[in-house]
Amino acid sequence: MLIVKHETYNDMSRAVANMIAREIRNNPHTVLCLATGSTPIGIYQELVRLHREEDLDFSQVTTFNLDEYYGLDKNDPQSYSYFMREHLFAHVNVSEQNIHHIRVPSNNLEDVARYCQEYELKIKQAGGFDILIDGIGLNGHIGFNEPADELQSYTHLVDLTQSTIEANSRFFSSMDEVPRHALTMGMATILGAKKILLVASGKHKAEIVNTIMDATITTQIPATLLHLHHDTEMHVDSKAAQLVDQKRSAERS
Ligand code: F6R
Repeated sequence: MLIVKHETYNDMSRAVANMIAREIRNNPHTVLCLATGSTPIGIYQELVRLHREEDLDFSQVTTFNLDEYYGLDKNDPQSYSYFMREHLFAHVNVSEQNIHHIRVPSNNLEDVARYCQEYELKIKQAGGFDILIDGIGLNGHIGFNEPADELQSYTHLVDLTQSTIEANSRFFSSMDEVPRHALTMGMATILGAKKILLVASGKHKAEIVNTIMDATITTQIPATLLHLHHDTEMHVDSKAAQLVDQKRSAERS
């Protein structure tokens, strides 16, 4: 896994957006796997700017979202479908039929398994992801693949951990409203992407970035599995890189 350092959050966001834009200009049928959360917002803003000011064309692009809360309506402002519309889809010319979210219309567990399989099939039919973008949870989760003794390979329903529920509560008016379950792509779905771009920003991410860069692989820190991928880059700003920098300068002295 390559670590790429940028001075500021904006520098990082611009650099990653430019990589995506280059891919789309080279291949108008690019298939993107997209994430929500605070970190990619700057990337989406820059992609919107590139669309408006530099004619970046999304008309043939296909998108799949990495994860989604279970049980929230797509118009719920906390749903990831809503998030993507607000931050990207409403502002670029991506075609509605090329946008994919993991959604289960009922609370029937049999349906969940079926919808997850159908989602995997749609990804396969689209030819897999050219680029996958994701942030990193403080506990090293990827999508909603939470630390565990075993990780699931493909799209599935998860029980969110207390640490993730607490981290997500900042977006809800009370803890009780935070969903306890989510749907997420599995580790094999993620590792199937041709290129993976992880993004991390801020001092609070310095520890997990450092732990991941240690390169030990453990299901207790799902992001470490990305060391098995041949083309993963972790893009960080200077605050998130702090501990990696300290360790490297200590190793040199
Ligand atoms: C969201 C997702 C999560 C976030 C992670 C970091 O689609 O996949 O894994 O990337 O929780 O979130 P932020 O960027 O808010 O720190």
